[in-house]
Amino acid sequence: MASLWGTLVLLCGVVFSAAQQTKSNVPRLKLSYKDMLESNNLVTFEGLATSSAYHTFLLDEEKGRLVVGAKDHIFSFNLVNISRDLDQIPWRAHTSRIDECKWAGKDLMRECANFIKVLQPFNQTHLYVCGTGAFHPVCAYLEVGKKIEDSVFRMEPQIENGRGKSPYDPKLQTASMLIDGELYSGTSADFMGRDFAIFRTLGLHHPIRTEQHDSRWLNDPRFVSVHVIPESDNPEDDKIYLFFRENAMDGEHAGKATLARIGQLCKNDFGGHRSLVNKWTTFLKARLLCSVPGLNGIDTHFDELQDVFLISSKDLKNPIVYAVFTTSSNIFKGSAVCMYSMADIRRVFLGPYAHRDGPTYQWVPFQGRVPYPRPGTCPSQTFGGFASTKDLPDDVVTFARGHPAMFNPVYPINNRPIIMKTDTDYQFTQIVVDRVEAEDGQYDVMFIGTDMGTVLKVVSVPRGSWQDLEEVLLEEMTVFREPTAITAMELSTKQQQLYLGSDLGVSQMPLHRCEVYGKACAECCLARDPYCAWDGTECSRYFPMAKRRTRRQDIRNGDPLTQCSDLQHHDNPNGQATVLDKTLYGVENSTTFLECSPKSQRALILWQYLPPNDDRIQDIKAEDRFVRTEQGLLIRSLNKMDSGTYVCQAVEHGFMQALLKVTLEVIDADRLDDLTHRKDEAIAHMAHSISRDTPPARESPNQKHWYRDFLSLVNHPTLNSVDEFCEQVWKRERKQKRQKAQQAQQVQQAQQVQQTQQVQQTQQVQQTQQIQQSQQVQQAQQVQQTQQIQQSQQVQQAQQPQQQQQGFVHAHTHTHAHVHAHGLASKWKHLQERQKGRNRRTHELERAPRSV
Ligand SMILES: *[C@@H]1O[C@H](CO)[C@@H](O)[C@H](O)[C@H]1NC(C)=O
Ligand SMILES: *[C@@H]1O[C@H](CO)[C@@H](O)[C@H](O)[C@H]1NC(C)=O
Ligand SMILES: *[C@@H]1O[C@H](CO)[C@@H](O)[C@H](O)[C@H]1NC(C)=O
Repeated sequence: MASLWGTLVLLCGVVFSAAQQTKSNVPRLKLSYKDMLESNNLVTFEGLATSSAYHTFLLDEEKGRLVVGAKDHIFSFNLVNISRDLDQIPWRAHTSRIDECKWAGKDLMRECANFIKVLQPFNQTHLYVCGTGAFHPVCAYLEVGKKIEDSVFRMEPQIENGRGKSPYDPKLQTASMLIDGELYSGTSADFMGRDFAIFRTLGLHHPIRTEQHDSRWLNDPRFVSVHVIPESDNPEDDKIYLFFRENAMDGEHAGKATLARIGQLCKNDFGGHRSLVNKWTTFLKARLLCSVPGLNGIDTHFDELQDVFLISSKDLKNPIVYAVFTTSSNIFKGSAVCMYSMADIRRVFLGPYAHRDGPTYQWVPFQGRVPYPRPGTCPSQTFGGFASTKDLPDDVVTFARGHPAMFNPVYPINNRPIIMKTDTDYQFTQIVVDRVEAEDGQYDVMFIGTDMGTVLKVVSVPRGSWQDLEEVLLEEMTVFREPTAITAMELSTKQQQLYLGSDLGVSQMPLHRCEVYGKACAECCLARDPYCAWDGTECSRYFPMAKRRTRRQDIRNGDPLTQCSDLQHHDNPNGQATVLDKTLYGVENSTTFLECSPKSQRALILWQYLPPNDDRIQDIKAEDRFVRTEQGLLIRSLNKMDSGTYVCQAVEHGFMQALLKVTLEVIDADRLDDLTHRKDEAIAHMAHSISRDTPPARESPNQKHWYRDFLSLVNHPTLNSVDEFCEQVWKRERKQKRQKAQQAQQVQQAQQVQQTQQVQQTQQVQQTQQIQQSQQVQQAQQVQQTQQIQQSQQVQQAQQPQQQQQGFVHAHTHTHAHVHAHGLASKWKHLQERQKGRNRRTHELERAPRSV
């Protein structure tokens, strides 16, 4: 109970601090599936009707192919563009096996098929491929040719038994690696999915495996990946490392818990002589810790290891291990990335063995004498004189058998996750890392796949020292049509592309999209993307070799002031002209919405107010009448004192950029009545002449017809813009005023004329009342809408074009506001041009302000 309480308290802490820094924790740019497709940043293979589970990837950069193992098929994609010259080989399970599988009560579609689980390079011309074969694992050789020009993709007819290579059950993963003709695989080797083991098969030697039915060795493991890492310059010392998660050993942990593990083996282990015959004698495992300290000294652990990526520098012996974890807690969803060094891992394997004397005792560090040569050491000339594991003394083999686990866990670099997400509706599933050379150093850019079909692009940047890392979430991109777990990921540095697999298909995206950050130096700089730099004219791919002078990039600080201030005149040739400057009229007691949202989700919006004939600018404080939303500022029940200039500023990383300037004039209601009177006449007149081709409108039935008709005006060919229309209304009004004056002079003239005017006036009064009613309804709707804006953001985006039109209508008519038409059309056009090539989403959101 105490530990549960601790977790809850910690959780509150996590959630609270996350909420506080929301702005720094959100992706700077968010690109929807549609955004990605439309900007040509995503190529997709939508899968075959007869296939699924595109989970097993093999990247061949030399031949320029991505080979993908799926259900009943093997595909070969062109790395340049996966939708070009696709090759595929159907490989179904044998009919008799499918029947057996059905009789065993398995699901025909989801289990009794051949799900490809192993895809490894075998020799210069062939791949080795294994599948579940409808609960009867099978393997085969796949000819792919030596060079690109060979363009062969063909399966050899000979089929091998796949036991100990592929699992029977397609739900289980195999972690495999084929080196020097030998296949290392962590998998389950029986129909029931109980006999899990690490095998070495193929090759000239007798197959070898982990001890069977010993939960100290492996306890219901799920294998994640296998890697070979040299220990010294002598290949005899090469070790195989396996990453997996498994149940804690008896007595290792209170309750049933999952632990993340790293296991090691010697590549030249051939088993024992008298005991551990054809079993590993050098197997050791250690716990991988990834946790955050809690308030009461109780840590929150991320134990469900999901994926591992190793990135090597020049020193192949010491890659950095990136590992993705989720929580096994059913209280909350959390994901984290932890980073480990090989030095720390080796230190743990050289440390104390975990030991206990009887089933009731705790696991303790083994204090006694460790036999020589130390269990876990590879037979080699480097560390001592024994030639083979078969020569190991009996006491060494006996000790190895009883002590497979190390006592100390491996702690992550800096003792904490470099990335952690606890407040999201998704979890991490996959990771690949690219080491990128930037102007101010080298950065590891992480691409993290989620269970919702999205990819996060993250870079961790040292704040003060290398111990204090700041997580910079650059982009969040949706790469699959529907939410689905990303289960495979490969990165090609040669192609600068990322390839993603899921149940639905395969997707491909470039590693960088520098142009989406914007057209100004400051925007490029704020992005902090190590792939991108300001090159003097645009935000483009950064190459370390290119000339230094013109390039601007600042990953460490993202500070546009130091990088771009001397370039201001280039960015902004017309001085303040790039800021959208508008005049807007609002009516006393009505509600106005000033729309302004930044492209970067990390920017905070600051609204400022400048009273007329006054230059004391003031910040707008949140109060009842001023409601800030993600989309802009809502001003309720306008009063005359609200007239003045409103400035919308985006503030990011200490850099302030004005996005919008609105001069608001509040018209008093009396004056308005007079104006509406006239205008309504004009509207009614004009709408009447056009209403025949009015498309069916979606408004609620209680809205008046004249309004619906008016909507179609926006699209009318004879009226290029609403501004033009409004000018016509104004002209009409002036004309009518003049006519009125004339009428007054001729007041004694024909009685018939007077009668007609009286009828007209009555009609006008009626119309005005109708308008006021519909105004109230719509005001209420608008306020409601604004409150829902945050929830229905996506829905709104989809409806954007339509709403944009409505926005104009709001501003001009039913709100009774009179937009100053002068110059608006040209400014709007200017704004649109300015936004070309910019992030599509923002493009849609940065609309003209509208008044309600
Ligand atoms: C990929 O190929 C398809 C079909 O040839 C083409 O429509 C698409 O534009 C290409 N995409 C890219 C990013 O090259
Ligand atoms: C690769 O292995 C396959 C299958 O054993 C064999 O047929 C082929 O000749 C081998 N190729 C080379 C270049 O050794
Ligand atoms: C506007 O609201 C104020 C305060 O509620 C009220 O006194 C005034 O009559 C209203 N004006 C109009 C034109 O409705």
